Amino acid sequence: MKRLYNLFGDGMNIGCDIVENERLKNRDKRFIDLVLTEREQKIYAERGFSFLCGRFAAKEAIMKALPHTKEYNFLDFEILSNPDGSPYVTNHTEIKLSISHEKNYTMAVAIINNN
Ligand SMILES: CC(C)(COP(=O)(O)OP(=O)(O)OC[C@H]1O[C@@H](n2cnc3c(N)ncnc32)[C@H](O)[C@@H]1OP(=O)(O)O)[C@@H](O)C(=O)NCCC(=O)NCCS
Repeated sequence: MKRLYNLFGDGMNIGCDIVENERLKNRDKRFIDLVLTEREQKIYAERGFSFLCGRFAAKEAIMKALPHTKEYNFLDFEILSNPDGSPYVTNHTEIKLSISHEKNYTMAVAIINNN
């Protein structure tokens, strides 16, 4: 697995994000292409708006848990769902996520163990 970053200190970090869903309404294809990988876009077509909100919040949470550099972007992290519905990052198994939806808001927490 490609290491995109090095964490300071003990190699663990946490990030969270809360999204006001309204902010993501009516975004154009360019925005979707910036946020969702091809496979995520296929699921978005089936699952709809809440999927986009959840993936956006989760990716923002991941970014917050990483050192602030311009070396990575949303597409570096692909988030699919396990058979039980829990989210996982396909290409970075060291990142653990939790996502929660409400009508108007979506939140996510990311924990990274880089050891
Ligand atoms: C899975 C569960 C936790 C979802 O909770 P919820 O309040 O309905 O919905 P939330 O919006 O908070 O969470 C949905 C997100 O949780 C995540 N999720 C789904 N299943 C999950 C699981 N088994 N483990 C961890 N996370 C899960 C997903 O990321 C999902 O969002 P996504 O589909 O966009 O990726 C809940 O339905 C559940 O099964 N709880 C088990 C306990 C239970 O059944 N209690 C009822 C007895 S009172």
